[in-house]
Amino acid sequence: MSTLSSAVTAPFDVEKLREDFPVLKQTIHGKPLVYLDSAATAQKPHAVIDAIRRFHEVDCANIHRGVHELSQRSTAAYEEARIKAKRFLNSRYTDELIFVRGTTEAVNLVSSSWGRKNVKSGDEIIVSAMEHHSNIVPWQMLCEETGAALRVIPMNEHGELLMEEYAKLLNPRTRMVAVTHVSNALGTINPVAEIIRMAHAAGALALIDGAQAAPHIKVDVQALDADFYAFSGHKVVGPTGIGILYGKLALLNSMPPYQGGGDMIKSVTFEKTIYNDLPYKFEAGTPNIAGGIGLGAALDYVMRVGVDQIAAHEHALLVYGTEALSQIPGLRLIGTAREKASVLSFVIEGLHPHDIGTVLDQMGIAVRTGHHCAQPVMDFFKVAATTRASLAFYNTFAEIDALATGIRKTKEVLT
Ligand code: ALA
Repeated sequence: MSTLSSAVTAPFDVEKLREDFPVLKQTIHGKPLVYLDSAATAQKPHAVIDAIRRFHEVDCANIHRGVHELSQRSTAAYEEARIKAKRFLNSRYTDELIFVRGTTEAVNLVSSSWGRKNVKSGDEIIVSAMEHHSNIVPWQMLCEETGAALRVIPMNEHGELLMEEYAKLLNPRTRMVAVTHVSNALGTINPVAEIIRMAHAAGALALIDGAQAAPHIKVDVQALDADFYAFSGHKVVGPTGIGILYGKLALLNSMPPYQGGGDMIKSVTFEKTIYNDLPYKFEAGTPNIAGGIGLGAALDYVMRVGVDQIAAHEHALLVYGTEALSQIPGLRLIGTAREKASVLSFVIEGLHPHDIGTVLDQMGIAVRTGHHCAQPVMDFFKVAATTRASLAFYNTFAEIDALATGIRKTKEVLT
């Protein structure tokens, strides 16, 4: 059974919400789990787990292919998830939402399909200095293939983009500006509305990597005027292997298919294939049906909790955590932007992040250590890796206290 009852409770009641997340109720190495790795993947509420189980136990069938009852049910549930994604992003049309494996596949879809058709030698693609590898490498591959050039918006020592430098990079050769909404390594919230406006003024398109924005801050693709916006299901308390690419209808219509196969065609002969309409043109083969249905349940869940409530709670945690960690001698926060989402990345003088992560794990505290798939960010800050605590709406102030105490103890153990 779905346990959304707590999600509709106002005001925000974190202890009640935590009841919805079975994974949080365990001990790790004999200590209560303190899960602070939600930027890597968020935990899943009963509502999502139950929706996926229900699909497999009750409705399991392939979609768009059968007249039988089970196929009708699974198709309806899958397409219902697309409508929920439309509400979540406030897109104008349901056909603007393409199911993909995640943000990475979304960027690859656009760079391959739109890119190969529209980018040629001498053109320029702009990314930022704080991109995840998944919003760098696909564009580099396109540049290698076409002879286009990659340009990079620099940032300052707080991890904020230098907008005046961005303005200088824009020119008539710019075809695409691909920028993250929220940095996974730093937590910076970028001024994407302004970035998009400036891209459009220069005659370029804009793709926003929303993997770390959803569900931490409100996203409205129409208000942003984004040409493309991508996010991953597993970071919005949904399952892995599913995500959404939003694209403006006219753009998606003008783009060739990304992959060929079943479901993306209207008719096939050996002489000619007629492609299907949107969104199916971009959804070749049997998709991740259970994942789509799980994502629909996840989006329902976070919309019922309320993204504004989530943002407010996480911001309070971030302010509290920043203060607590700043008082630890030798600890340096990496990423101190004025506009920040709930990421606390740090290094400690003389200690290796992997050792910090390992000792914290012994205390039941789960953090991520490493370069966070953002090696250029690490290079900029002249560190090989950081320890990153990333927060979600199910985290508590007590867990931040546990982290701060855990870091102090870790320092004692390792020095
Ligand atoms: N991109 C994910 C992270 O930042 C995996 O951890």
